[in-house]
Amino acid sequence: MTRRIQISPSLLSADFSALREDIETVSGADMLHFDVMDGHFVPNLSIGIPVLQSVRRVSQKTLDVHLMIERPERYFDAFIAAGSDILTFHLEAVPEADAAAFLRQIREKGALPGVSIRPQTSEETVFPLLDEAELILVMSVNPGFGGQGFMPETLPKIESLRREIDRCGLACKIEVDGGINRETAKLCREAGADILVAGSAVFGRPALERNAEIELLRGGI
Ligand code: DX5
Ligand code: ZN
Repeated sequence: MTRRIQISPSLLSADFSALREDIETVSGADMLHFDVMDGHFVPNLSIGIPVLQSVRRVSQKTLDVHLMIERPERYFDAFIAAGSDILTFHLEAVPEADAAAFLRQIREKGALPGVSIRPQTSEETVFPLLDEAELILVMSVNPGFGGQGFMPETLPKIESLRREIDRCGLACKIEVDGGINRETAKLCREAGADILVAGSAVFGRPALERNAEIELLRGGI
């Protein structure tokens, strides 16, 4: 396989009282995944701008911010100012006609734009956005909680996206989020994913084993 797989550990599964230390335990990761929830778009609350600012101060890694919030455009400026390198919003959270313009806005404001789809949303809904988006974040669990089981019906969506991106000769990356472990990581790599998010599979392990786990998820050893 010529694609280099990138791993984005999800801080949602980290220990928030020891975030700096937990971030140091995943030094082998390519980026850090930061889940933002508003209790409306998803039935849960998580972390937001002040925590992102703190993470930015202690880490040079690419910060991969996943907004699971309604009307995300209200917060683009704030999340970019707080240090987002990648800023991803949900297609289901915005008027469909605005999605392309929102992706352009994020890029103009200085972050790499991503768009995410829930497991129930067809991958074809993002086909018109593949030339504007830096990445498509395919949810492989219902967004809102870490530690859920991978939904295998997501795999044909990843394959279909891979085919469409390659057919059009685009650089857009495919990120998969939810229920990633050694077994499901392999299935996603084979289906055509570029970036794998992993929360419990990484932070659920002892600190000294996390970098080795990241390599296993990457498929490198
Ligand atoms: C879920 C979040 C995920 C979550 C993944 O809504 O978007 O990023 O942290 O956690 P795991 O890897 O445990 O499924
Ligand atoms: Zn996420």
